[in-house]
Amino acid sequence: MYQRKIDNKWNFQNVNTKEYTHCYHTYPAMMIPQIARRLIQEYKPQGKCKLLFDPYMGSGTSLVEASLANINSIGTDLNPLARLIAKVKTTTYDIVNLRNEFQEIQSQFPFFSLTNIKNKNFERITNHVFWYSTESLLKLSYISQLIEEYSNNKDFFYVALAEVVREASFTRNGEFKRFRMKEDKIKDFHPDVFGIFKDKVKRNLNGLQEFKTVVGNTTVGIYDFNSILEIPQNIIDPESIDMVVTSPPYGDSRTTVSYGQFSRWANEWFSFENAQNLDSLLMGGKKCHQKIFLTETIDKELQQIYEADIKRYYEVVSFLNDYWFSIQNVANTVRKGGIVCYVVGNRHVKGVQIPLDYFTAETFERCGLHHIITLVREIPNKRMPLKTSPTNITGDKIDTITNEYIVILEK
Ligand SMILES: C[S@@+](CC[C@H](N)C(=O)[O-])C[C@H]1O[C@@H](n2cnc3c(N)ncnc32)[C@H](O)[C@@H]1O
Repeated sequence: MYQRKIDNKWNFQNVNTKEYTHCYHTYPAMMIPQIARRLIQEYKPQGKCKLLFDPYMGSGTSLVEASLANINSIGTDLNPLARLIAKVKTTTYDIVNLRNEFQEIQSQFPFFSLTNIKNKNFERITNHVFWYSTESLLKLSYISQLIEEYSNNKDFFYVALAEVVREASFTRNGEFKRFRMKEDKIKDFHPDVFGIFKDKVKRNLNGLQEFKTVVGNTTVGIYDFNSILEIPQNIIDPESIDMVVTSPPYGDSRTTVSYGQFSRWANEWFSFENAQNLDSLLMGGKKCHQKIFLTETIDKELQQIYEADIKRYYEVVSFLNDYWFSIQNVANTVRKGGIVCYVVGNRHVKGVQIPLDYFTAETFERCGLHHIITLVREIPNKRMPLKTSPTNITGDKIDTITNEYIVILEK
């Protein structure tokens, strides 16, 4: 089959994942920068390595690492917030300009008053009364206005604001999905909106400074095409990519990681497109009742899921159909001798683990690539409540290991 190798050196426990511009904005299921870095160092193709592609770039971790390695890059994501973050993380702004603009913006905070706020209409934000206090909304609006007035590098400040928009809402801390805090928590929740914004900008400026001391002179292209449908040839020539480094979703957003829900506060704040229905546009978001892909490696698992729950089976199939088309399109962009690295998770559905790493390797091989190795990272997980605890005591917890699979292929 497709050889797996457990290699502890890929675990990267206790490393600083927030170096350089990686500190800017959290994002669900971020790739650890050191993984992209080491993949580029150890697996970059023979001969030239001038162009890297990430078809699910999220917040742009691979793109930042490509720039640090002096490689041009192209990334795409359907989530507008992801594109904003990735763009800002890979831009080498003039720091003196940013500092001056930041001074100007901060100098206006003491003048915050109802009469000074131009936009007090928050209808664009679904259920804004449910999610925010009036005071937070007004302060956020005032910051938006100051960025408009005082900055020529608005996106840099918008990325900081995007995080505040989320943190100042009544969303439960540490959750990616939209859950509201309990009423008693809300009573005592008075976020220091200006203070949080200042801290984010300062942190991001430090990250930028660090980034600029080491980054090469590279180009980065940020796009919004959907690799399931097509990869536009005016953006990427066929057989032109030297290396792909990516971490795709491992299931549809509804039953796995909900990128749309996480991003909705910011996407609505900035009136970005598809803010309300993003999850249905992402991989596996549209239900389909026909299996289109071919597979030998995960047939048994799919059969087991089918027997356990037909509805869940078609959810998985819908995702895999999309994944299958996307891989075919991505494979076409890779040059002969180019390297493809997919970091994937093998999730459980109805108690059946789906070996997405095998399916990834198998599908790329059908497109003419050959599998080199799959590196298995062991991630010691938080203590998880298990349905079947060893002691059978409800609520008992045991330590679990989660694995991540880095599938590496060559064309
Ligand atoms: C695991 S995340 C990537 C995280 C990224 N490596 C990082 O470090 O931030 C997967 C991303 O795929 C995006 N995505 C899902 N379906 C997509 C599609 N059909 N086309 C483009 N992007 C898609 C999601 O919006 C999400 O940002």
